[in-house]
Amino acid sequence: MHTIPLPRIGTWEAWRTAARACLAARIPPEDILWDFAGSEAELFATDLPAPTVRGTVKVPADFVDMAKWVVWHADPQRFARLYALLWRLRLDKGVMSDRADPDLAKLRQMEKAVHRCKHKMRAFVRFRDLRTGGPRRSFAAWFEPTHHTVEPNAPFFARRFADMDWMIVTPDITARFTDGTLTFHEGQPKPDLPDDATEELWGTYFKNIFNPARLKVKAMTAEMPKKYWKNMPEAQHIPDLIAHAEARVRDMAEAGPTLAPARVAKIRAQLAETPQPASWNLLDADLHNCTRCPLHGPATQVVPGTGPRDAALMIVGEQPGDAEDLEGLPFVGPAGQLFDRLAAQAGLDRKTAFVTNAVKHFKFEQRGKRRIHQNPNTSEIEHCRFWVESEIKLVKPKLILAMGGTAAESLTGTRKGILKRRGQIEDTPHGPVFLTVHPSYLLRLPDHAREEAEQAFRADLSGAVQALTLLSHPA
Ligand code: URA
Repeated sequence: MHTIPLPRIGTWEAWRTAARACLAARIPPEDILWDFAGSEAELFATDLPAPTVRGTVKVPADFVDMAKWVVWHADPQRFARLYALLWRLRLDKGVMSDRADPDLAKLRQMEKAVHRCKHKMRAFVRFRDLRTGGPRRSFAAWFEPTHHTVEPNAPFFARRFADMDWMIVTPDITARFTDGTLTFHEGQPKPDLPDDATEELWGTYFKNIFNPARLKVKAMTAEMPKKYWKNMPEAQHIPDLIAHAEARVRDMAEAGPTLAPARVAKIRAQLAETPQPASWNLLDADLHNCTRCPLHGPATQVVPGTGPRDAALMIVGEQPGDAEDLEGLPFVGPAGQLFDRLAAQAGLDRKTAFVTNAVKHFKFEQRGKRRIHQNPNTSEIEHCRFWVESEIKLVKPKLILAMGGTAAESLTGTRKGILKRRGQIEDTPHGPVFLTVHPSYLLRLPDHAREEAEQAFRADLSGAVQALTLLSHPA
């Protein structure tokens, strides 16, 4: 048995030299004990006879390319596995291209793991400014890699941070870059690194670039495994960002895209020149001939508001859906049915209200036989505001209940922050507007979130009923 000691630093060169020598001396794999960093020395200490070199050894280049990464794997068997394959390669050069070979497959897997670890290290090492005050800025980082990737990765950091001094301390070795020279040192305890003001900045940046709509927790934790989080200052924000992602996505959806203010002003100026219909008959006639925006084209018909024409409460939704477009009446489809049920539970009788929409034509995309709802854009909302205003002028409601972002945009000028603004009255040129979410938003929620959301919606509706009572009977 030959025990071959391998150092913790310079492992690759040491293994390559020893493996070549053993191969040249025809020492079979089972006669070698690879002793990494002295871990086996005490157990199996033997006199190591110098291998007798018998001729030169030719090693395929693709084996070398693979081996120089595999040696950094954490598996204690890596050196033995590599040498066993090298031993076979003497007689069978085809092994390196045999993907089905289990020995090669295992080594390829290990190589991949080391590459992955190398990339994680490049992405997740976080340096702290040591503020040493010298001519070169000085940084240090504590990192806990899965494999022994500090040494093969250090040249990358040296190139990237060539104009600074830095060190990366890990549980087994430290890479130090001082005045342009890279050195490696064995084990050092975790240093007590100073707080770094840039970390707060980095945390804020991280929070800002975090896109909740793209969040896929599984994919994210696969990309940024949790074990790295403890040494990454920004990671402290992740649990909170995940917890609030769903609400932020809803908020973003409600906020939707907005039109440039200049364009809005232009549409408003055009509309201001058109006299509003002064009677229900005129409104009815004009509305049925509306061609103000392209939505009238594909829709079956215009859907005007319905209900008592002197209602104290006016309810404004988004736009007719598929069922409403076919029937010519607002809120008769699934969202309307849900609304009716929750409104009744909240003490709001829909029949007493004038119910209408911010946009009067159904906007959809035809997919096969299905017509898929599309959100109206700001231009369409602006054009249709003319009709909502006409309805308001004729009904003269005491309170308007705006449901969802589109109604909010039409009546208050913005849909932003609807989830924060809901349940409250806002003063607008059209009179008091009570804001809440759209019932179809409740329909889109997953079952586990639905009950709570319905309760909040009912609470909004009862708030609107109370507000209406106060507005109708001021003290
Ligand atoms: N959604 C609305 O906003 N209005 C309707 O009339 C139907 C669904």
